Amino acid sequence: MTPTTATLTTNPAPAGAGGGPAGARGIRRLTGLKPTGHLHLGNLLGAIRPIVGTQYRAETIVFLADLHALTVPHEPARVRALTLEQATLMLATGLDPDRSLLYVQSQLPQHTELHYLLECTTGYGEAHRMIQFREKSTAEQQVRLSLLSYPVLMAADILLHDTDEVPVGNDQNQHLELARAVAGRFNAQYGQTFTMPRAALPEVSPRVMDLSDPARKMGKTGSSDAGTIFLLDPPEVIRRKVQRAVTDPGRTVGYDPRRRPGVANLLEILAACVGGSPTGLAADYRSYAQLKGAVVEAVEGLLRPIRLRHTELARDPGYVRRVLADGAERAREGAEDTVYRAKRAIGLLC
Ligand code: ADP
Ligand code: TRP
Repeated sequence: MTPTTATLTTNPAPAGAGGGPAGARGIRRLTGLKPTGHLHLGNLLGAIRPIVGTQYRAETIVFLADLHALTVPHEPARVRALTLEQATLMLATGLDPDRSLLYVQSQLPQHTELHYLLECTTGYGEAHRMIQFREKSTAEQQVRLSLLSYPVLMAADILLHDTDEVPVGNDQNQHLELARAVAGRFNAQYGQTFTMPRAALPEVSPRVMDLSDPARKMGKTGSSDAGTIFLLDPPEVIRRKVQRAVTDPGRTVGYDPRRRPGVANLLEILAACVGGSPTGLAADYRSYAQLKGAVVEAVEGLLRPIRLRHTELARDPGYVRRVLADGAERAREGAEDTVYRAKRAIGLLC
């Protein structure tokens, strides 16, 4: 297997500051994944599936946000290993490297180049107001400066590629708003340079909760291992986690997210896997044991092909590395073009 060299259409004249039509090319969608932990079912349903699912309708860019992984205490070897694992999993979930771009952020130096220019367009107060900064900085003793400027790097990631749409979960919405504010200000002060991005909420956007604590989001960090289904969990582990999922003392299966969050979470996961509505599905099961059996089967049905494909791909890390290098190379021309425009506009000699 060798990666092909189809390129994305290079950056056209940027669309209007209001996020207007994308000109000659199609809609361009972009997302970044942070290699800070193993990918889980929430990431698959909330982030990966929505972007992979539209790759034949929209120009798609996915990058491994390894620079973002350095904003909090990290282990170098783990970040490196997770970057390769997540890239392999993106391919295993069906991201088509002939069609879409997949690369590692740090392998495209224009991200950091543009980051600096945007830091010169962002106020300290603006960055300081970000909820995620406030949350994460109170949790840590030694706050890295990069944690404060994280959303500016995220703005650079987005604006670098003249992105039209960024599929984001609620937690990232404020960062996207910052990217829009920075783009608008830069364009107004220095002349039309960046395409105005917009958030794209996934058509169905399930928020998968921790199986052992349905008040918490299933996550790479912060949730429990027992309540998190990782994409590479073997079948028996999936079964155990689902069977031990917290439900409630009731006996009949009904969809009531407020009063019965554990059962509702299972029904939402089932609906996301097999289609249908959680309320409609609830009527099909007479006991929690039956429902859990169905969830095990549905989740395993979704994850099994991904796991098998991952095993196959992981045997040839050279292939994955080539896809990533090829992705960075194909992304380079457009990225250089954006940075050139931004440098000229802001007053640098180039
Ligand atoms: P995590 O919380 O696991 O660290 P991130 O914050 O890195 O995940 O999010 C990566 C992407 O996955 C984001 O688009 C986010 O909205 C989505 N995502 C993360 N957790 C969930 C979840 N439990 N349910 C749905 N989507 C999720
Ligand atoms: N900040 C995102 C997260 O925590 C990851 C990310 C980095 C991203 N750059 C991005 C997402 C650009 C969308 C677009 O999950």
